[in-house]
Amino acid sequence: MSQYYFPIVFVVLLEILRLAQSHPFLFNSGNQQRRAQVEWKTPEDNWTAEAAPRSIYPLLQNQYNKHQLPPTNRYEIIEGDEDEQVLRRMHEAKQNATARTLFYSNKDESHLPPLLTKTIKYFNLQQVAYELETSVMSQVSCTACKAGAGLLQHYIRTGKSKEEIIKMIYQYCVNLKIQSARVCEGVSQLFGVEVIYVLKRITIGPDEICSFIIGDACGDIYNPYHEWEVEFPPVPKPDPRDLGLPKEAAPVFKVLHLSDTHFDPYYAEGSNADCNEPLCCRLTNGRPTTPNGAAGKWGDYRKCDTPKRTIDHMLNHIADTHADIDFIIWTGDLPPHDVWNQTKEENLNVLKETVKQMTEKFPGIPIFPALGNHESAPVNSFPPPYVQQVDSSIAWLYDELDVQWRRWLPASVSHTVRRGAFYSVLVRPGYRIISLNMNYCNNKNWWLLLNSTDPATELQWFIYELQSAEFAGEKVHVIGHIPPGHSDCLKVWSRNYYKIVSRFESTITAQFFGHTHFDEFEVFYDPHDLSRATSIAYIGPSVTPYNDLNPGYRIYYIDGDHDETTRLVVDHESWIMNLKEANLYDYPIWYKLYSTRAAYGMKGLRPADWDQLINNMTDSKELFDLYYKHYWKNSPVKPECDYECRKRILCDAKSGRSHDRKYFCEEVEAKIDESNKGWKDWLFSSISSSYVLYKKLF
Ligand SMILES: *[C@@H]1O[C@H](CO)[C@@H](O)[C@H](O)[C@H]1NC(C)=O
Ligand SMILES: *[C@@H]1O[C@H](CO)[C@@H](O)[C@H](O)[C@H]1NC(C)=O
Ligand SMILES: *[C@@H]1O[C@H](CO)[C@@H](O)[C@H](O)[C@H]1NC(C)=O
Ligand SMILES: *[C@@H]1O[C@H](CO)[C@@H](O)[C@H](O)[C@H]1NC(C)=O
Ligand SMILES: *[C@@H]1O[C@H](CO)[C@@H](O)[C@H](O)[C@H]1NC(C)=O
Repeated sequence: MSQYYFPIVFVVLLEILRLAQSHPFLFNSGNQQRRAQVEWKTPEDNWTAEAAPRSIYPLLQNQYNKHQLPPTNRYEIIEGDEDEQVLRRMHEAKQNATARTLFYSNKDESHLPPLLTKTIKYFNLQQVAYELETSVMSQVSCTACKAGAGLLQHYIRTGKSKEEIIKMIYQYCVNLKIQSARVCEGVSQLFGVEVIYVLKRITIGPDEICSFIIGDACGDIYNPYHEWEVEFPPVPKPDPRDLGLPKEAAPVFKVLHLSDTHFDPYYAEGSNADCNEPLCCRLTNGRPTTPNGAAGKWGDYRKCDTPKRTIDHMLNHIADTHADIDFIIWTGDLPPHDVWNQTKEENLNVLKETVKQMTEKFPGIPIFPALGNHESAPVNSFPPPYVQQVDSSIAWLYDELDVQWRRWLPASVSHTVRRGAFYSVLVRPGYRIISLNMNYCNNKNWWLLLNSTDPATELQWFIYELQSAEFAGEKVHVIGHIPPGHSDCLKVWSRNYYKIVSRFESTITAQFFGHTHFDEFEVFYDPHDLSRATSIAYIGPSVTPYNDLNPGYRIYYIDGDHDETTRLVVDHESWIMNLKEANLYDYPIWYKLYSTRAAYGMKGLRPADWDQLINNMTDSKELFDLYYKHYWKNSPVKPECDYECRKRILCDAKSGRSHDRKYFCEEVEAKIDESNKGWKDWLFSSISSSYVLYKKLF
């Protein structure tokens, strides 16, 4: 998640528009023949999917553990907010504590006055502009984008130098107090260079650029440069069979899913948590200005990332509590959100340090990583392989990923990891994991404006891998960072991806992503029949509390090795830590928030079951509220969810394809509007009848 950098850039652009209104001539160039300043053609790329060696030896030994599935009866979900329950759990945990966990506990019992939670409002939490994230992609940002792009293109055409343009962006940012001077400087330096490089080389205008980046909120401008389709081999699609439920009591794998750790090496307890920058809780943010402004010991609900002690504590807890996990999927975003001040060296250090830590905590357990959008510096900058100049190429990152990931992966993946940070491995006979680099669908990856056609040939390779898996009778799990239906994923890429999932619906039995920091999911449908769900993408919660969230992770139980295996997820659990309690009592407690089948009364976790859950949540506010609580990882500072919010969240769950909400969500939205209307009618009629009564009585 990097929602903070995007508004900064756009607010700068919007302000440029305001100032530029006194110079309307700047924007009258729309009808002129546009020419790029630099002649640029996509370099030849003769790489083919067949060139990559296939992983054909199962990575996982056949010695996996016996696991107990979570109970499926509905149970009372532990409320994190009741004082008595908190204290009971505190005492229990203290009694349970081993030497290792005691290390973290603090001295004496007098530290825990029973009514503390009631008497002290420990956090005076700002109501963080939640709107920011969801309404960025509105008409406003569209206008700002066009104005900014138009102005930048004008400056470039009139021969302003790179330095002059960067200086101008910086001055607007500072003079208008959009961010602090140092953030303005970082943003204009880091992103300016790249944006100017790209804008110099493209021939399309602001309308096309902004429709491409922002998607459906910015018009559906036809743009022949960015229309493309992957090719499928001439093999007929196997008839989809009705999926049965996984066999009871069959062997399962227990799998840990970690995502969005956003480890901040500079997190400082007691520093200012309430700063006006995209990331707080560091010494560089100075001292807190109010008593409530200090960064918590274990993390903070405000714009702060994860301190080392919290990551250590979580990994120790996982190693203790889930000693029997068979493998781990790890879906990216390791560095912190200081996007205005990141360097390649720092990001590589975070990568190396985190990989080392994971290896030490989980010796001998295979880990399947995927690349996040924050791993690059600057954030979101992932030039495709044809960008080979030393200062721009992405080789600095992919080559190091290859070195780091190779601890867990076979040598055969090296070829594709170095090309595009994606790979395919056979985990068990008949069971494969494919890790995708979702940054080639990332709309904030400016390089894609040069040529967005299947960057790095990734999707064509994906098809090749899936077709080979289909021939070999293998089932596939897909892992990645940005969910394909998220508005951060480019429409054209997402459309192609959706087609692939549909073609290989019998092969892909689950998908796993992160990025949103929330605990959620996305259902895929038959493109010709919205009533038939074909695939399910699990979106795992973040470890970072950034922002307003509790830290969390997931455990999946996956149908294991036996004759009738479906390789479906049989059940999953979300585990969290209540950050408010942890900071109050200086004692983090990790606990299971819910397990899915029990919480929602689901028979299984097939795509159709998830679709039914969406329908049931549309009809039942109570069920939706439970989901909403889980979605926010039971955060005590989660915002209220009104009708619009409910529509948005359910629509997200229906959207496996981005920027197509009208198509997927009309029905659900209409139903919720209907119930909303009914409620208003009721309110209105009861008010008017009591008014009548009132008049009669007096
Ligand atoms: C973009 O790249 C693709 C594949 O590399 C190529 O076929 C296409 O011609 C390129 N488009 C442009 C406009 O250069
Ligand atoms: C691809 O092109 C490079 C040079 O651009 C050449 O060295 C290599 O042999 C070519 N590979 C194939 C498979 O044609
Ligand atoms: C303490 O241990 C008991 C039994 O092992 C377990 O059921 C309980 O969940 C533990 N409590 C906490 C808070 O860890
Ligand atoms: C930027 O990072 C450097 C270290 O890489 C640090 O010394 C400096 O204080 C940081 N600046 C800000 C504004 O955070
Ligand atoms: C949805 O509701 C129906 C009817 O109450 C119930 O039979 C079904 O199990 C529910 N399914 C899910 C996934 O919640």
